[in-house]
Amino acid sequence: MNLEAIRAEFPITKRWSYFNHAAVAPLPKCSAQRMREAIEEEMNLGRINEEGIPQVRRLAAQLLNARPEEIAFVGNTSEGLSILANGIRWHEGDRVITAGVEFPANVYPWLNLADQGVKTQFLPQQDGRIRLEDLLHSIDIHTRVVALSFVEFSSGYRNDIQTIGEVCHNQGIYFILDAIQGLGALKLDVKRAKVHALSTGGYKWLLGPLGTGILYIAPEFMDELKVWLVGWMNVVNAEDFLNYELKFLPDARRFESGCLNLPGIYGLGASLKLLIDIGIEKIERRIHHLTDRLCQGLKRKGYHIFSPRGANEWSGIVSFYHPKIPSPRLLEILTRDRIVVSLREDRIRVSPHFYNTEEEIDRLLKALP
Ligand SMILES: Cc1ncc(COP(=O)(O)O)c(C=O)c1O
Repeated sequence: MNLEAIRAEFPITKRWSYFNHAAVAPLPKCSAQRMREAIEEEMNLGRINEEGIPQVRRLAAQLLNARPEEIAFVGNTSEGLSILANGIRWHEGDRVITAGVEFPANVYPWLNLADQGVKTQFLPQQDGRIRLEDLLHSIDIHTRVVALSFVEFSSGYRNDIQTIGEVCHNQGIYFILDAIQGLGALKLDVKRAKVHALSTGGYKWLLGPLGTGILYIAPEFMDELKVWLVGWMNVVNAEDFLNYELKFLPDARRFESGCLNLPGIYGLGASLKLLIDIGIEKIERRIHHLTDRLCQGLKRKGYHIFSPRGANEWSGIVSFYHPKIPSPRLLEILTRDRIVVSLREDRIRVSPHFYNTEEEIDRLLKALP
């Protein structure tokens, strides 16, 4: 990895030690440039060429080990999850299992089904983990959906999606993933994990712009979903305007209702290409190395690491606290030193990406009292 060349893609590195990719990532130059080109085109020609869209769909599919026909573009994670939650044909008494520490984007779409008789159950968090045995205990004949995050936003715990996918598959339960806190940092194979559907915004670990997102839907799940967000573009004869035959597209584009955010999607495409060209395995190894260095340094200084750090449960998120110094005070100190992190549930959350350096990690450690 030519770190110098890579860091040139991130002008933010000149001003800040930026460890906040679990919140919003800074745009790499290539993404900003691609959006600028699209906007120039819109300004000068009155429209933007749509021909690059299939390529971005291919890149999104490649990252997930999916097929382009299984990818729809959405505006954010919430929109994708809502398309799914309202697309399932529910029966009174059905249940959804999620976790009591999920980000609300993966909670409200399910709670909002209460008036259809759908009950949402919450798994507890134990030592920063969502335990498999709790999930197994909660599943019964009424369970229709397990909806979890790939990586939990606050603890950074990586759910064992392979095992959960297997369990859901064997019991005829839909497995739905909010992937925004892992995709772009960690390898994710939707086929191996037997995920029915996945939604993610593009603006965290994927390094894309706000207002972009990816919705993956497994082919065998697609026809079970009702298309309810309907406009002029979901259909086969979209360009035959006065032919009102309501025949949905055979692929995931049937979930796209109208004109897309072209500059945003092109920007996302440039960011996806950057990640894929570097290689997601390399990125994952680098993030592991940086977060391990951080955890070791934190322990030496007497801080408590809340994030599970075992072999298959670590992620790019490190959440920690000091037994005596309040976390808001730590946040103040770090911010003053031009180090960007977040405060989540009274803990400091650090989320470095592959372009951060060992020196930056050491700077953060040194800045901490
Ligand atoms: C797990 C998780 N899901 C979703 C979101 C954001 O949702 P959206 O993309 O709809 O803005 C966040 C943001 O912090 C998150 O941590």
